[in-house]
Amino acid sequence: MHKVLNIVGARPNFMKIAPIQREMLRRSAEFLPLIVHTGQHYDAAMSDSFFVDLGIPEPDFHLEVGSGSHAVQTAKIMTAFEPVVLQENPDWVLVVGDVNSTIACALVCAKLGVKIAHVEAGLRSRDRSMPEEINRILTDAISDLLLTTSEDADENLKAEGVAVDKIKFVGNVMIDSLFHSLKLAESSKIRKTLSLEEKKYAVLTLHRPSNVDDETVFSGLLNALFEISEKLPIVFPAHPRTKANIEKFGLTKKVAASNIKLIEPLGYLDFMQLYSGARLVLTDSGGLQEETTALSIPCLTLRENTERPITISHGTNVLVGTNPEKIRRAAFGVLSAETFSSDKKIPPLWDGCAAGRICDVLIQKR
Ligand code: UD1
Repeated sequence: MHKVLNIVGARPNFMKIAPIQREMLRRSAEFLPLIVHTGQHYDAAMSDSFFVDLGIPEPDFHLEVGSGSHAVQTAKIMTAFEPVVLQENPDWVLVVGDVNSTIACALVCAKLGVKIAHVEAGLRSRDRSMPEEINRILTDAISDLLLTTSEDADENLKAEGVAVDKIKFVGNVMIDSLFHSLKLAESSKIRKTLSLEEKKYAVLTLHRPSNVDDETVFSGLLNALFEISEKLPIVFPAHPRTKANIEKFGLTKKVAASNIKLIEPLGYLDFMQLYSGARLVLTDSGGLQEETTALSIPCLTLRENTERPITISHGTNVLVGTNPEKIRRAAFGVLSAETFSSDKKIPPLWDGCAAGRICDVLIQKR
């Protein structure tokens, strides 16, 4: 029996752990999975609603660390997580993605000699000003098993000198959750509530500190988005950080008077119904670049780089950067095309079966 601690902390972790936890519970003769929630995200809309929508069992351990500076948050997670590892003595600790909870829990295990599996390993934006890039590099450097979503990630790891037998290309577990939930999302009422017709609106998400913490950058982005929204109304479920900055920079009235509809962060199923019916998605999220690729929805990424190049080479993603003029041009380009280029492919092993492959590898590598 493999005892595994499955770690979640922030919103983008929940949809990655859900299918793994489900698969481990299904294979209960082989696995004893326990969920540890660090509490990095704690608002109902950022955390609890995902447990409900994704059918994740209540966490076995809740560390309740909350927000703080990077140092404070990382240290609090480490201090709270260490006794859990000592008490449970797991065979594996499984971390996902690139948030502070990922590196904090991995670092605890590396020092205690407990084996770490990193799901979504090897992604690189090559932009070290992104906190997530630091988390990715460091987590990969101390993990025992590096489970990748795309072959470019394998190449990144090999180039950093990682032993080949630690790397396993298993596919994208986030797409497991997407395929699992698509039917359920049809019963969401969100489009009806917002009076939206399929393909007659765009969806926007923005939360990267580099985009929303600097007033000039954020205002420039919003000005381009105001113009786009004149042609296609934009729905904008805003992250708490983003919402706070709209108020801080005195942009509340301007947004309210525009065709950008600012709403609260949505749960997993409501958000899925929203973006899956959109004509266009504009985002700085990592996960949404992948979800739009899996569903062939045009996506403009408002960043200068991406750690997910396969969404560009295979998928529907276009990296437009943060220059307002370029954003305007790219969006109008998508809107003027009769249909979006249909030669888009779903990347290899984004097939809804990644969690099964992850479990197989954990068994082999014991
Ligand atoms: C974190 C991740 C980021 C991920 C994002 C998704 C890191 C370094 N960053 O960024 O990779 O894309 O989550 O959301 O781990 N807050 C709330 N309620 C909450 C959580 C946060 O109001 O439930 C507010 C707090 O003011 C907090 C701020 O949001 O200070 C930022 O939260 P934090 O977890 O530090 O980083 P995110 O920006 O959410």
